[in-house]
Amino acid sequence: MSVRKSELLNMESTITLSSQPVQNRVREIGINPNYWYPVAWSHQLKPCQILPVVVWQQAIAVYRDVNHQLHALENACPHKGVVFDKGEVFETHLVCPYHGWEFNGEGECVKIPYLPPEQKLPCAKARNYPIQEKYGIIWIFPGDPSLAELKTIPDVPEYNESEWLIVEIPAHFQAHFSICNENTMDVFHGFLHRDIQGWFNPILTQLKAKKNTVHAQYQVSYRGWLSKFLNLNKDENQVTTRTVSITYNYPHYHSTLEGVSSLYLMRLPVSLTETRSFSLLFIKLRLPKWVVNLIRGQLSQIIWHFLFKKFLDQDIEMIESEQQTYLANPHRQYVEINPAIIALQRVNIAQYEEFMQQSELISNHKN
Ligand code: FES
Ligand SMILES: [Fe+2]
Repeated sequence: MSVRKSELLNMESTITLSSQPVQNRVREIGINPNYWYPVAWSHQLKPCQILPVVVWQQAIAVYRDVNHQLHALENACPHKGVVFDKGEVFETHLVCPYHGWEFNGEGECVKIPYLPPEQKLPCAKARNYPIQEKYGIIWIFPGDPSLAELKTIPDVPEYNESEWLIVEIPAHFQAHFSICNENTMDVFHGFLHRDIQGWFNPILTQLKAKKNTVHAQYQVSYRGWLSKFLNLNKDENQVTTRTVSITYNYPHYHSTLEGVSSLYLMRLPVSLTETRSFSLLFIKLRLPKWVVNLIRGQLSQIIWHFLFKKFLDQDIEMIESEQQTYLANPHRQYVEINPAIIALQRVNIAQYEEFMQQSELISNHKN
């Protein structure tokens, strides 16, 4: 049977899929905390409000003071350990709900309401965390604060370009972050989304892995009403083949569908069995620019609820099922055939091990 030249090129540029065992310990690893992690959308926290968040098993009270400044303190009062998020904000201070001790943004106790004024305040300090706000997201640095300035938040150039429509996508998974991350790298699961006309015939054409990053390119075909809506096809029955690029730059993702969309997926690992994500999806629509500008906010909400949430709900079901089966038997053997997933597992394990080794060196040095 003759093979057309274009098909031959595709075949030649395909990366071999071959069976490899999965290292189960990737489901037990922790994070490297020396990166910025997203914890909330900016609009979730108004001035004088407190929000409890968890960044990899660390409970943190985030508050916005009367001057709109953000602060993040360990969510445990140094007096008796009561959670701060049930307290209140007084000007720039956080007031504990139990005895009313006041703490500044550095976490230092600055007032005890019932302590006679002539008496010195005890030395009571809550841990504080570097915090910042960018792209409508609140970010915390849970690791060594002296490294916070050296590390950057992912660059999102589309954020200020008006031709893109931004869709904010929150997600919550009862699963380890490695399972969630593998779902994002795994373009071969278009089968799951077939009823909502996702994508088909994926081919892995490029894979580059470094210490902190995995970059994969897939060639993917699209057909149906959704691809027409996204300007991929002129009519529903036409098939269009495009390149999907996915870059995992520990611990977050950037993925693009050639000329159509750009997705920044910011991951928040919460615990061994819980993960959140804060994603910014940028899409270009067929609609006239003035229409998009007029109903930008509503359009984002509609697109999220009626289009992309369906994809996410299907993914959540698979991801949580994977976690449950793993928990029922952590020694069960699994087989993976996508080398991009294996590369991703290596990066996640290496980042955790690197952090553990650094922590060990520091503690040996102190002893
Ligand atoms: S426990 Fe916070 S003031 Fe007493
Ligand atoms: Fe999916």
